[in-house]
Amino acid sequence: MPGACGGGAADAGLAKEKTTARAVRTKPTTRVGEETRMDYTVVTRVTFAPHSGGQRVSPYDRAVIEIDAEYDVEIERVAHGGHCVARIQEPDGRKRVAFVRHALPGERVRIRITGVEKSFLRADAIDVLTPSPDRVEPPCPLAHPDGCGGCDFQHVALPAQRALKAAVIAEQFSRLAGLDVDVVVEEVPPTLRWRTRMQYVPLPGGRRGLRKHRSHTIIEVDDCLIAAPDARESGDLRGAPVTETVLGHTFQVAGDGFWQVHPEAPRLLVETVMAMLAPKPGERALDLYAGVGLFSSFLAEAVGPRGHVTSVEGDRSASRWAAENLKRFDHATATCAPVERGVIGPGDVVVLDPPRVGAKRRVVESITALEPRAVAYVACDPAALARDVAYFADAGYAMSELRAFDLFPMTHHVECVALLVRTEPQPSRPA
Ligand SMILES: C[S@@+](CC[C@H](N)C(=O)[O-])C[C@H]1O[C@@H](n2cnc3c(N)ncnc32)[C@H](O)[C@@H]1O
Repeated sequence: MPGACGGGAADAGLAKEKTTARAVRTKPTTRVGEETRMDYTVVTRVTFAPHSGGQRVSPYDRAVIEIDAEYDVEIERVAHGGHCVARIQEPDGRKRVAFVRHALPGERVRIRITGVEKSFLRADAIDVLTPSPDRVEPPCPLAHPDGCGGCDFQHVALPAQRALKAAVIAEQFSRLAGLDVDVVVEEVPPTLRWRTRMQYVPLPGGRRGLRKHRSHTIIEVDDCLIAAPDARESGDLRGAPVTETVLGHTFQVAGDGFWQVHPEAPRLLVETVMAMLAPKPGERALDLYAGVGLFSSFLAEAVGPRGHVTSVEGDRSASRWAAENLKRFDHATATCAPVERGVIGPGDVVVLDPPRVGAKRRVVESITALEPRAVAYVACDPAALARDVAYFADAGYAMSELRAFDLFPMTHHVECVALLVRTEPQPSRPA
């Protein structure tokens, strides 16, 4: 409550030591600047800065909004990461961005601050005052503030989940690549019971749990609703290979090795990548971040013995399985190396499927230096994808197609596949 605290603080004046003032307000309707707040509790710590050069420093220069403070706010747009944006007025009148989980755009909610970062706040919506029409009862009883941190969008109707993800993709492309994209996130059933790999935390007595959001606290989970009934659990198959079949091709995968988690993902991604690249017999293909050779196997079939496929994978075990999975093709080689090392050519077509951090400039430049005619970029983070698409644009590659799949329903995650094709060299974007 800036008025009360600020007045007291100013009167006390001259303070060189740190002082903490707490204001707790629960009465309805208090005017703070232009904003009317209702029924909230604000706990504000005010720190007095020492005088500098004879000039008094406003006590609010270092005011802090504390963890557990509560505000009633309007929720604005969705933001990347499974939360929405709201703005809170600070004691000095400035507005501070809060990233709010468990909320939806257009809602009025009561939030509780869960994190105070240098330039923004984290918060949970703990009470919905004006619900969005897209709000639903979460299927999972553990999907609530302070509950399991695994799913961000259980409270959102499925079509709206996909619309939120499409909005995030569009925002990332606009912000990081300067591109207007109008993408539809395609539904991929099942939307519950889809996760074929689970990483539970073992608890005493054979029980198991999952972590709270951004916390080490474990929530006991009896039945995770996004886990497939036969989901493999980390630890119980460590190292032992599992056989996976995709469109008639079989793959051996280490029990704890990478494999796409949605049961439809391998087929869907292979079909999408192969349709985008349309590899021709005799072409040379590169499969970068190849895992156990999922895309390599289909590329090898398409380019035939007159062509060649090189799969590059950094994980030793995955690369060994890639060699095993590709051994029926004499014209396919599995290389174990970090893609950044740049030993990757030549290639007419390229599949690029990096981890969440994306490929980054150096890898993009080493690919474009090979002048492939087309690159299919499979991405689980639209921000990393948009950033890298801008690097491709710098080297004369344009995004000619973009598809997005809801391969992680109930969470904020989304999988994109972008096709980059060589065009005339582009002038560099302004810095
Ligand atoms: C998203 S997975 C894709 C795997 C494969 N394309 C698939 O769909 O099954 C990313 C893969 O990149 C590998 N990886 C991560 N960083 C790497 C690097 N710097 N160089 C090479 N491989 C890397 C990981 O081990 C993982 O297998």
